Amino acid sequence: MVLHRPRIYVTRRLQDVVMDELMQQADITFHPEADRPVPREDLLRGVQGVDGILSMLTERIDREVFDAAGPQLKVVANMAVGYDNIDVEEARRRGVKVTNTPDVLTETTADLTFALLMAAARRLTEAERFLREGRWQTWSPTLLAGQDVYGATLGIVGMGRIGQAVARRAQGFAMRVLYHNRSRSVQTEQALGCEYKPLDELLREADFVVVLTPLTPETRGLIGRRELSLMKPSAVLVNAARGPVVDEAALVEALQNRTIWSAGLDVYEREPIAPDHPLLALDNVVLLPHIGSASIRTRLEMARMAARSAVAGALGEEPPNRVV
Ligand code: DGY
Repeated sequence: MVLHRPRIYVTRRLQDVVMDELMQQADITFHPEADRPVPREDLLRGVQGVDGILSMLTERIDREVFDAAGPQLKVVANMAVGYDNIDVEEARRRGVKVTNTPDVLTETTADLTFALLMAAARRLTEAERFLREGRWQTWSPTLLAGQDVYGATLGIVGMGRIGQAVARRAQGFAMRVLYHNRSRSVQTEQALGCEYKPLDELLREADFVVVLTPLTPETRGLIGRRELSLMKPSAVLVNAARGPVVDEAALVEALQNRTIWSAGLDVYEREPIAPDHPLLALDNVVLLPHIGSASIRTRLEMARMAARSAVAGALGEEPPNRVV
């Protein structure tokens, strides 16, 4: 019996063990570099005639890609929980299934979000630069003094799985936890001891505002000039979701004018940020290169999950973690 081997295009070389597993089950073509996104023309060429695409958040999977692939394309498996890089309406119209990688990255991303919060509060990266640059002359009563985390008020914007995991961490720091979400959940409030607040109230009351919403047409620019102006001058903004949820120009202004105290960012409107980006000139912001889910174990799990979905979808089966 000849088994049908599906054809899958992988937009980035994944961990060897995952590539081996994929190759046992499908005919794989892939972009050979692990650390650089596939050039657009290579992507358009690579996807021709495939049954499945395993993509990263760095690739825009839109009408042009669907056209280039052809009508036999059955699945796009994104190696991320967010899938704003995929034109899901176009996928739906063409009957192409879309999958993501939820759950496996929840705790890892919550760890990073909390680390970013603490780093911005206690000026960790600024302090390390200070020491490495040989500027540390003496202990001083006010040297690099930051904001307290313990006992402070945390406002979580977007109380999904990662938001809830951050709230659990906050319990250990005796924080009062406020949240804002599309829908209110009394169950979550009871389980985590948190309070629902309209966005404006949350922004006015929180010492730390943590953005964890997915990027959708409704959340694009959710935290803009007006919203930043509602925050306390001592407040810290953390964004570990998607850059465009926060108006970056307005944030730069707020940080420059110190109308908020500091920020911790893992994501940006355009990634990677330009070498002359105004954020790079500011001391009161901690900047990370989109590493929310980047632990060795979690990235391996994410790759495996995406691979399983790509293979199942390409075979015409119902893929795990289908979002469209
Ligand atoms: C996701 O999964 O959406 C993350 O941003 C990737 O690290």
